[in-house]
Amino acid sequence: MDLSGKTALITGGAHRIGRGLALALARAGCNLILHYNRSADRAQATAEEARALGVQVILRRADLSRLDDPTPLFTNLPHDVAPVQILVNSAAIFPKDTLTDFTLDGWSQTLRINLRAPVLLTQAFARALPDDLQGAVVNITDWRTERPYRTHFTYTVSKGALDTFTRAAAIQLAPRIRVNAIALGAMLPPEGASEAYWQRVLATVPLARAGGTESAAHTLLYLLRNDFITGEIIRLTGGAHLNM
Ligand SMILES: NC(=O)c1ccc[n+]([C@@H]2O[C@H](COP(=O)([O-])OP(=O)(O)OC[C@H]3O[C@@H](n4cnc5c(N)ncnc54)[C@H](OP(=O)(O)O)[C@@H]3O)[C@@H](O)[C@H]2O)c1
Repeated sequence: MDLSGKTALITGGAHRIGRGLALALARAGCNLILHYNRSADRAQATAEEARALGVQVILRRADLSRLDDPTPLFTNLPHDVAPVQILVNSAAIFPKDTLTDFTLDGWSQTLRINLRAPVLLTQAFARALPDDLQGAVVNITDWRTERPYRTHFTYTVSKGALDTFTRAAAIQLAPRIRVNAIALGAMLPPEGASEAYWQRVLATVPLARAGGTESAAHTLLYLLRNDFITGEIIRLTGGAHLNM
């Protein structure tokens, strides 16, 4: 897919990894529907950075835990904006819980944001995509679905289901829409994480460093541009999965 002039919707695009992905899309010439929830100021700042690269940016606020019908995100666009052909599901939460202590509310919140929202967004995207256009979805997931955390139970289950959804959707939406995922490793320390925690995480990475946002952005553009990849989940871990 040639990205120049395409419209891309990215969830959680205001800051951190989502911001890096959004700016990479903008550098590749994509106009953006930049979704955010609480981070209005940071979304505005990211939008300004993207606009300075010469693309159009439309900001859209939505709480994904309450989003029952995402259709307007795809259909309610200014007339001079092309239909959305790229969907990047990056927004997620990373709560600390275990099988024995999670609550029903916590389970519901994690599954709603990390799984239900990407599924409903993909459905709305596929329904809204005009018949004569190709589309691509990239889900941001986590390689730790293969080696589950002890401490992030509902998150791990939600991302594992997102992996399965990626493959199921790739079959269902072929040949017009490709669906892939990037299974991230240690890219950025979780907000509020201690330096000691982060050093312990990095000690498990054979390449001995964090991935940062640029390597995630590079992989996103690769998956979007390569028209023969679908149903693929690329691990981006610095080799951490080899320690399994
Ligand atoms: N950081 C890493 O090293 C790492 C590792 C593995 C996987 N990942 C995955 O990579 C993606 C981005 O990670 P990150 O560390 O940059 O995430 P983050 O800093 O925790 O940011 C979470 C994002 O999700 C959005 N979000 C959270 N709750 C929401 C809700 N109810 N409605 C709408 N949006 C909501 C936030 O938007 P607002 O701030 O606007 O509310 C924010 O943009 C996630 O899918 C994460 O699981 C990250």
